[in-house]
Amino acid sequence: MKILVVYDSYFGNTRQVAQVISEALSPYGSVRMCQVCDETSKKLDKVELLIVGSPTRAFRATKAINAFLDKIPIGGLKGVKTLAFDTRLSAVETDSGLLNALSAVFGCAAAPIAEKLKRKGGELLAPPEGFFVKESEGPLKSEELERAVNWVQKAVGSFYSSTVIHGADETTGSAPLAH
Ligand SMILES: Cc1cc2nc3c(=O)[nH]c(=O)nc-3n(C[C@H](O)[C@H](O)[C@H](O)COP(=O)(O)O)c2cc1C
Repeated sequence: MKILVVYDSYFGNTRQVAQVISEALSPYGSVRMCQVCDETSKKLDKVELLIVGSPTRAFRATKAINAFLDKIPIGGLKGVKTLAFDTRLSAVETDSGLLNALSAVFGCAAAPIAEKLKRKGGELLAPPEGFFVKESEGPLKSEELERAVNWVQKAVGSFYSSTVIHGADETTGSAPLAH
């Protein structure tokens, strides 16, 4: 399976999440991870699983991630499995009642990313997920990287186990390796 992990990152936290996700997916196929840029949409050819992650900035994804998603034509992700994640400030660690109140209303980056992926024809393997930083510049809260690995393994693993049950490999139940 050809897997592409597209991320944006200012301080490196979203990049770290993208990195552990990419490593966790290596048993499922060839994984390419790239920071989003003007050329990123050219890398979508033959991609079967697309994962998009962004820092939350003013309650949404970065301009570069939105530009990348907007460039994908309607129906351009037909037949492509997708996942969306973001990094965001932790309400527990943040003293700002205003930010917490606004976040409750306006949300974070992952859900709108997921909406766009669906609108372009992608099939979401799991609900969008957020991973918490302690402060704007990081670091990530402890155990967020483990949580990211569990999230992606569960999402992709459950898709693959259902594929396996419908396929020929019921006896081993193992996830198919790169193909
Ligand atoms: C200009 C700016 C706006 C931000 N807006 C939000 C926000 O709306 N909600 C939130 O939870 N965190 C917000 N943050 C915190 C970022 O989510 C945090 O910097 C990011 O997760 C770090 O990821 P990165 O290291 O990949 O850039 C903001 C940070 C900056 C600098």
